[in-house]
Amino acid sequence: MFFIFKFICIFVEKMKYKSIVSVLEVNDTQLSLYENSSTRMVTDNKWDKEVEVEKSSYYWNGDPVLHKGTIHNTSKKPLVVELFCGCGGTSVGFEMAGFDVALGCDILRPAIETFKHNHPKSSAILGDIKKVTPEMIENLLDGKKVDVLVAGVPCQGFSLNNRKRKQDDNRNFLYLEFLRFVDYLEPNSIVVENVSGMKSTGTFSEDIEKSLSLVSGMKVTSKLLYAPDYGVPQKRTRLVFVGTKSKDFSFDDIVKTHGPTTSQEYVTIEQAIGDLPPLSNGEEKFEYGSKATSKFQRLMRKKKGKRLENHRSPKHPKATISRIGNTEPGSPMYPKFKQRIRLSWDGLSPTQVSGGIRPQFQLGHPSDPRGLSIRERCRIQSFPDHIVIKGGTVQARVQTGNAVPPLLAKAVALAIKQYLHEVSDLA
Ligand SMILES: C[S@@+](CC[C@H](N)C(=O)[O-])C[C@H]1O[C@@H](n2cnc3c(N)ncnc32)[C@H](O)[C@@H]1O
Repeated sequence: MFFIFKFICIFVEKMKYKSIVSVLEVNDTQLSLYENSSTRMVTDNKWDKEVEVEKSSYYWNGDPVLHKGTIHNTSKKPLVVELFCGCGGTSVGFEMAGFDVALGCDILRPAIETFKHNHPKSSAILGDIKKVTPEMIENLLDGKKVDVLVAGVPCQGFSLNNRKRKQDDNRNFLYLEFLRFVDYLEPNSIVVENVSGMKSTGTFSEDIEKSLSLVSGMKVTSKLLYAPDYGVPQKRTRLVFVGTKSKDFSFDDIVKTHGPTTSQEYVTIEQAIGDLPPLSNGEEKFEYGSKATSKFQRLMRKKKGKRLENHRSPKHPKATISRIGNTEPGSPMYPKFKQRIRLSWDGLSPTQVSGGIRPQFQLGHPSDPRGLSIRERCRIQSFPDHIVIKGGTVQARVQTGNAVPPLLAKAVALAIKQYLHEVSDLA
């Protein structure tokens, strides 16, 4: 009897992973179908074909480094664990919605430095997810139940910005790792975030929904969410998967706050960064020097620290300064790279990216002839000013380009909170 039971368990286990493996078997025909598809969401995300897929010497190769926090013991709020947390855009959004972030895990040293700085009471793991075990998380949290298990699984393999997308990109296989944690930790809900490219390529998203549902026992569904609809001044579309234990999750419960169907217009660049002081080439400023003039700016400055952080202009050669200065706001600065525009005060930003930025800035400031400071990149992602990005300018660009906009995550989190009421009495 025992052996039959064991055999059934092994069979079920294998079946669980079969569909997710098929997810990864996208071929060139599917990709080219996608390239020619009229349903393609983002048509202007052309990037430099010569730029290598991002590899980082900042990745931690050793055994996972564990840091034990305290928040899980004192918190009265629902608890979030974020795998592949980066600088913690999703975590910040969940905090805004009334959750506590119990733990973040990432392989990138500067990202964990940022995460620990901004979540000093949370646990953190620096390490390759393949070497991290669910038991490590269970121990760090003293066995506390995880309410929301989040994964911003790396997206380069699917990204429209990655001109070298391929089926055997190792990063695509990190989904399999996430399933281990879902299976063991049995969270009350799961959230997975990825780039929009996945939705329109092959049957990736359906297969991922199926495999996540199978492993978690929840019905997992997904939807493309457009960041400006949630008050983010950036044309960024993310594919979000959600599963909740209490009852089937409906994306209709995620409330749009801005745009045509609401009473508020999209947040413009001026409303987002207009209060940040002007900078000359290479200059850094620590004082605001003016008052907040928009609702968005007031929100960003609400919990600010003693001084303005991360507001330094990139240092450009003369040719770059005149190139930016001579570009009409709203237009591309480099004819070959349509997404590298000089921002206009009354528009939205294109999607901020993390890599492939040559020279080392992506977007021009609307009135200063320079690239953006990290603080301006943070604002365009809707990171409030009390969030400090660590690790130097280049690594801060990587982290801010990879992040989920906190206000988008907040909207998802608020909807999930309603569902969690049904499985626990947490507020
Ligand atoms: C899309 S970003 C996540 C962004 C994050 N959710 C946020 O909102 O800020 C993906 C992250 O996965 C991390 N990562 C990549 N490979 C990893 C691995 N093998 N183990 C752990 N983390 C990894 C990267 O360093 C990166 O920070």
